[in-house]
Amino acid sequence: MSKIQSETISNYRQAEYDIDTTYVRRWSPRSFAAQEVEESVLLSLFEAARWAPSANNEQPWQYIVARTEQEKTVFLSFINEGNRLWCDKAPILVLALSNRINSRGNPNRSHAFDTGTAWGFLALEAARKGLVSHAMGGFDANKALEMLGIPEDFDAHAVIAIGYQGEAEALPPNLQEREKPSNRRPIGQTLHMGSFGNRLL
Ligand SMILES: Cc1cc2nc3c(=O)[nH]c(=O)nc-3n(C[C@H](O)[C@H](O)[C@H](O)COP(=O)(O)O)c2cc1C
Repeated sequence: MSKIQSETISNYRQAEYDIDTTYVRRWSPRSFAAQEVEESVLLSLFEAARWAPSANNEQPWQYIVARTEQEKTVFLSFINEGNRLWCDKAPILVLALSNRINSRGNPNRSHAFDTGTAWGFLALEAARKGLVSHAMGGFDANKALEMLGIPEDFDAHAVIAIGYQGEAEALPPNLQEREKPSNRRPIGQTLHMGSFGNRLL
């Protein structure tokens, strides 16, 4: 299958209600083109993440970016093999971290929730800019924390591969079959009105 262009994504994904098309255009391909990401473009993704809401505006997120071969080699050493197979072609790898402790020195109950929100903003801005992003939980978080000198108050949530989309044919055969946008369950299976199990749809 060839690279899925944004205009063909509608063959795989249809929103039930009116939303900006960026939400359905964002998906997580595995094939990356050999095209660098300009620093200003990369920074605009973190700019989008910066404006995410967070409890008490704590902004618990931090990111470590790997873009040189040397930095990427370190990242690839803690990423699971199944992900390494494709993400080694991505020009940028980012480790998303969050601080479990707030600015008053107390546990921050929403550090992970808020950092997930920020990742969502980043991913949407990437899609808006014509880039692709693919989050990975398949990595050794303890090894990452140790290898990158991350202070102990932080959790490592995901490695995010960022770049421009490549051809599906460049992937190993088993991954070529999976290189297409996924669908979603209907809203009716997610929504409860007033109490759990009381369905609107
Ligand atoms: C926290 C998180 C961890 C993920 N871990 C992996 C992973 O280790 N490997 C992988 O190929 N995809 C991973 N994904 C991608 C999801 O499988 C993907 O987002 C999901 O199937 C929905 O598809 P879409 O992003 O194309 O809409 C992860 C996504 C998230 C948000």
